[in-house]
Amino acid sequence: MTSASNVNVPTNTIAPHGGQLVNRMLRGEMRQAVRERAQKLFKLDLNPMNLSDLELIAGGAMSPLTGFMGQADYERVVKEMRLSNGLVWPIPITLPVDRETAASIHLNQEIALCEKGHVLAVMEVAEKFEYDKKHEAEMVYQTTEDKHPGVARLYRQGDILLGGEIWVVELPATAETEFPELRHTPAQTRRMFARRGWRRVVGFQTRNPIHRAHEYIQKTALEIVDGLLIHPLVGETKKDDIPADVRIASYEAILRDYYPAESVLLGVFPAAMRYAGPREAIFHALLRKNYGCTHFIVGRDHAGVGGYYGTYDAQLIFDEFQKDEIGIEILPFDYTFYCKKCGMVVSSKTCPHGKDDWIYLSGTQVREMLERGEMLPPEFTRPEVSKVLVDGMRAKRERENNNNQG
Ligand code: ADX
Repeated sequence: MTSASNVNVPTNTIAPHGGQLVNRMLRGEMRQAVRERAQKLFKLDLNPMNLSDLELIAGGAMSPLTGFMGQADYERVVKEMRLSNGLVWPIPITLPVDRETAASIHLNQEIALCEKGHVLAVMEVAEKFEYDKKHEAEMVYQTTEDKHPGVARLYRQGDILLGGEIWVVELPATAETEFPELRHTPAQTRRMFARRGWRRVVGFQTRNPIHRAHEYIQKTALEIVDGLLIHPLVGETKKDDIPADVRIASYEAILRDYYPAESVLLGVFPAAMRYAGPREAIFHALLRKNYGCTHFIVGRDHAGVGGYYGTYDAQLIFDEFQKDEIGIEILPFDYTFYCKKCGMVVSSKTCPHGKDDWIYLSGTQVREMLERGEMLPPEFTRPEVSKVLVDGMRAKRERENNNNQG
């Protein structure tokens, strides 16, 4: 099959990972032909994480990946955080199936990748292979405990991996139903940056509602670049994380009044959360490079969960690579919080006071206060945000109660 049109990228932007922005989205007649052919193929329903992967591959956010990993890439990624060609890549992007399904598919067979039976893409199965889940857990997540949400997902998934390139005819339904106006592809963000004249752009990953420390590190970073891409992750997260619609609403509540439109762009990042801490920080950075960011913020316990990673492990892991192998500049931030005496957000690097003057809340404390319908302290988060969170969580509880009763 011939490649879809190459994406036209302005020359003043950073090179995508591996040099070329991938585009696996078929258009026009080719799309129609493949869509029709796919109806007769073996249909494989994808899990939510693989649906996210498909969207990211389709639009080039996962460049240079053009599909789900074969064995050589998988094994080297797990062991060395590199693709088989040596390019840095920290997280396996795999298509797991159960043994029965694997047995019914032969090599070189073209299959349809589906969402609830609806065809989204085709894949020629180039490889089928066994893998060691415990080894992947140990290497990627640094734990084999199934209390870790990423490890639990890994243990639940099928025992055989299918590898092969994909061609996408349609994006998952969420692309239309959830934040379609914020779902910019890498080609689009690159164009938007160029149009705004931003040459240096810092990307900010988040899976939480915005709070003062986030705002502080975003704006501190913005002081040294031209633009800020606020890029909340909206793929699958663990159940007790705040839902994406409430998080996005929390951003929208303050962007207008506290962020200058000419230097800030809000977009969504359709990836699933792995909670792989340090390795996921690299993954997040490389994908934001593909979106055209030149800088990327890594603060405290980036992409961490529970106590599995050291507070700054996600910063230290970048030292294992040459700067040009990563390509995007990492802006590391210390743990920041509000200091009553300083009257501003600080870190222990910038503030001489002590714990009694500092206000910080853990994610669990925040969730508990919101469960009780309480506003968060204004030093922790802006009241506009608190209000959105309290209302959003109340609406969520009501939805859940109605569902339970119904
Ligand atoms: S994450 O899983 O997406 O990393 P979160 O949304 O909490 O979670 O964090 C987004 C980014 O802000 C990450 O780079 C994280 O390290 C950083 N960050 C969050 N809170 C703080 C804080 N209080 N001080 C410094 N950095 C922080």
